[in-house]
Amino acid sequence: MRRLGILLSGRGSNFSAIAGAIDEKRLDAEIAVVISNRPEAPGIAAARNRGLNAVVLPSRGLDREIYDRLLIDELRKHGAELVCLAGYMRILSGHFIREFSMRILNIHPSLLPAFPGLDAQHQAIEHGVKFSGCTVHFVDEGLDSGPIVTQAVVPVLDTDTADTLSARILKEEHRIYSEAIGLVVSGRYRIEGRRVIAESP
Ligand code: GRF
Repeated sequence: MRRLGILLSGRGSNFSAIAGAIDEKRLDAEIAVVISNRPEAPGIAAARNRGLNAVVLPSRGLDREIYDRLLIDELRKHGAELVCLAGYMRILSGHFIREFSMRILNIHPSLLPAFPGLDAQHQAIEHGVKFSGCTVHFVDEGLDSGPIVTQAVVPVLDTDTADTLSARILKEEHRIYSEAIGLVVSGRYRIEGRRVIAESP
């Protein structure tokens, strides 16, 4: 299961970190296709520059399930086996999630289950937590709620704004997403209840 389908909507720095990890042979996987629902996403230009299959599938105005069927067709056409959400700003339909059941990963900029949803870094500052971080998790039909593959912790400083905290978290995102994908691609894990347990080689 090493062919990745990356879905993004924006900047694409997590995508670039994954592609970099593959190039540097820190991650044994292959990017089958990068798909953006937004034509102007910088991440799709970055994918093109790397010579990867880069597809724009505009989602505006389309019914969720109809759109997701197009998405599934495109992923299948390129032989994607594991779907990695990398700043994909659209909720997936139940149909999509069932189609790639336990084969969709997401990265979220908080220590889930704290602060799911939008503006997680802002939520963390407003709440006054002293530590936050990021989470890579399998995607299920809830909001940022699937089994957790890995997490990283960063301090929240008194001087932080959402921007400075986001930058600190993003550095960790770039590190742990490739590690988590590596684990899932290797198949060396099992899931017990909600717990994702890595098995030693
Ligand atoms: C990241 O903060 C990620 O955690 C969240 O969306 C942001 C995407 O950033 N899901 P990028 O497009 O990968 O730079």
